[in-house]
Amino acid sequence: MAVKRTYDENTVVIFDTTLRDGEQSPGATLSSAEKLEIARQLSRLGVDVIEAGFPAASPDDLKAVQRIAQEVGTEDGPTIAGLARAVEGDIRTAWEGVKDAAHPRIHTFLGTSPSHLRMLRIDEEEGLQRIRKAVTLAKSLCDDVEFSPMDAGRTDMEFLIKACAVAVECGATTLNIPDTVGYVTPKEWAEKIEQLIQETPGAGPGSGVIWSVHCHNDLGMATANTLAAVQSGARQVEVTINGIGERAGNTSMEEVVMALHTRKSAYDVRTNVDTTQFMKTSRMVSNYMGMPVQPNKAIVGANAFAHESGIHQDGVLKDAETFEIMTPESVGLHTSRLVLGKHSGRHALKVRLAELGYNVDGDALNQVFSRFKVLADAKKNVTDADLEALMTDEFHKP
Ligand code: KIV
Ligand code: ZN
Repeated sequence: MAVKRTYDENTVVIFDTTLRDGEQSPGATLSSAEKLEIARQLSRLGVDVIEAGFPAASPDDLKAVQRIAQEVGTEDGPTIAGLARAVEGDIRTAWEGVKDAAHPRIHTFLGTSPSHLRMLRIDEEEGLQRIRKAVTLAKSLCDDVEFSPMDAGRTDMEFLIKACAVAVECGATTLNIPDTVGYVTPKEWAEKIEQLIQETPGAGPGSGVIWSVHCHNDLGMATANTLAAVQSGARQVEVTINGIGERAGNTSMEEVVMALHTRKSAYDVRTNVDTTQFMKTSRMVSNYMGMPVQPNKAIVGANAFAHESGIHQDGVLKDAETFEIMTPESVGLHTSRLVLGKHSGRHALKVRLAELGYNVDGDALNQVFSRFKVLADAKKNVTDADLEALMTDEFHKP
């Protein structure tokens, strides 16, 4: 069933950049067909904006963005965005990529930190002029324009405010603040976003401008920084599935969305995401990109809903809430998993044996449990086949 996207002042817009920043992960490239299939799945997941690619990067990227715009960017579907440097050629090519979508967006950016201005061999004044030209051109092509001052995390605050003000004056409707190198701390980021919202002329509360953040995970703080920004008033977050992206990756969508949903009282916002699509989307992205998900990855890792120790297993069997703050069903898993190993207890063993058709209790269970513990000491995980063998041997039962 198609997701129905609705918006109010408490909606956090989910901007997915798996197909753009995510595809910039070392070694992760996708065919056009794979990109299209991922875009369709992202739409089923309910993301609001899909950044489909960087059309000026290559003719193939342009074609993939065009197909996604035509086939996924339907009237009731997500906005389709194309990335462009603040140069005319990129902006026109981005428009060629997205123009067939029912809701197209041009996302243009310019580095604003001292090192980025040095790299571009321009000063602040020239930077402001380039932003003015780029956003004005983008706006002449497309109503929906997003501007990002790249490396905002290390950009002088006074200049950052000027850059954002110029972008808004020229028609930008979303101001996206990137922590391009994953440098800031949650407290610094929350303060920075709050100050930007308060002090940028034309972009304060009630202006209609959406403030957005785009965090990288170099110090493992991308999710924390993104959530801190939401508490300061950001109403768009730029994220990827499984947290893939340049270097240590981007903010992980599943972590941010599940935090917003699970800790609703802490954030008091909503999203349009159908969280039961997370596992399927995560597996698709991992398979197509050839990037395995670490087992202990929050939300979508193989161990995220697995319990090994006896105390935890007993608790979960009696009442799942004891050790689970989200249900496995809420992210698209059928059940949580009890892993039988040396920390496991009688209760989990009894339940697993019953599932295999062996109803054991009392002394019989004690006997099997002692043998199970010896086996578990020798092996990391005791499998169903191990349990079958153990039962056959213990009770000569075929
Ligand atoms: O990390 C970054 O600054 C980016 C921009 C292009 C938004 O990816
Ligand atoms: Zn990025």
